[in-house]
Amino acid sequence: MNYRRCGDSGLLFPEISLGFWHNFGHSDDFQEARKIMRRAFDRGVTHFDLANNYGPPPGSAEENVGRILAEDFACHRDELIITTKAGHLMWEGPYGEWGSRKHMLASLDQSLRRLRLSYVDVFYSHRPDPETRLEETMSALATAVNSGKALYAGLSKYPLKRLKKAVKILKEMGIRCLVYQPPYSILNRWPERESILDYLLEEKIGCVVFSPLEQGMLTPKYLDGIPEGSRAARPEGFLKDDQVIAQQEKIRALGDLAASQGMSIQHMALNWTLRHRSVTSAIIGARNVGQLDDCLNALKAPGLDESTLAAIDAITTAEKPKHAEG
Ligand SMILES: NC(=O)c1ccc[n+]([C@@H]2O[C@H](COP(=O)([O-])OP(=O)(O)OC[C@H]3O[C@@H](n4cnc5c(N)ncnc54)[C@H](OP(=O)(O)O)[C@@H]3O)[C@@H](O)[C@H]2O)c1
Repeated sequence: MNYRRCGDSGLLFPEISLGFWHNFGHSDDFQEARKIMRRAFDRGVTHFDLANNYGPPPGSAEENVGRILAEDFACHRDELIITTKAGHLMWEGPYGEWGSRKHMLASLDQSLRRLRLSYVDVFYSHRPDPETRLEETMSALATAVNSGKALYAGLSKYPLKRLKKAVKILKEMGIRCLVYQPPYSILNRWPERESILDYLLEEKIGCVVFSPLEQGMLTPKYLDGIPEGSRAARPEGFLKDDQVIAQQEKIRALGDLAASQGMSIQHMALNWTLRHRSVTSAIIGARNVGQLDDCLNALKAPGLDESTLAAIDAITTAEKPKHAEG
């Protein structure tokens, strides 16, 4: 495993991190989840990314991880970066989501109880709250850090203008934003397009990207339909059939390109996100140990040359040919 510095902080992240959005809830196989976590750590993955609502049901990923941490990782706490977030819907009533101090700090306490930890390494505002003053949400992050319940503060999915303002407010409160977490993949260049990646580089803020495989679409699995057990086949509906079908042509072309370079589409996709100078780490999801191992093996693949990067651009920016009507 290679480790990259998170912005200009003292903290190093593994190039590939493991996320617990799916596959670690009470509805999943606990023993497989345990094997994935242990295998990840054995291969140098020192960053585990959670949020209050991961499951299903919400909170159960933190409960399972808390149990595995207590039973299997008790002597390894100082070798791990454990992150959690608050902001998405977590409990009923007016305080169960968004960016109030009430929600953020109550949620952090709940997360710590479920994780059986006294602190997390990074506490994130999971999404911007259009109805709450940024000062209030940032003050909750500052309180989390000042109380020692989190070592660092992070922001996720904030658009550039709000991100800049939030970073400034945190700075005025004496807190540095350690890390920003956007979606980023060959099929989703939003943070690049919005100049967020450039801003993070300028500000020396780390960038830990999520869904680098576009929830599994950047693998061969959906080329011939929706396989049983895959995310698109699951009832939660985070990845829908029509999303997959809309990207099938591009995925096929990207797969052919990867094969011409002697690599798999998933290895090409992971190395594509990691090529960007702003990116500190890519957080993957894995349903089993085989997927985890395969993703980590991407780090052994040769880097992507200029002509491959240009070919990826050509595929992803290509418009579908318009068919004449009638
Ligand atoms: N900040 C935020 O708002 C936010 C939002 C989303 C995610 N995240 C974080 O990012 C993490 C990763 O997100 P993600 O799960 O969408 O990431 P991803 O790596 O793009 O997708 C993971 C899925 O891809 C498939 N997969 C992975 N490796 C594979 C392989 N080698 N071969 C074939 N299929 C493979 C599996 O899907 P199947 O189950 O279909 O096999 C797996 O569940 C989350 O767990 C979470 O920690 C954060």
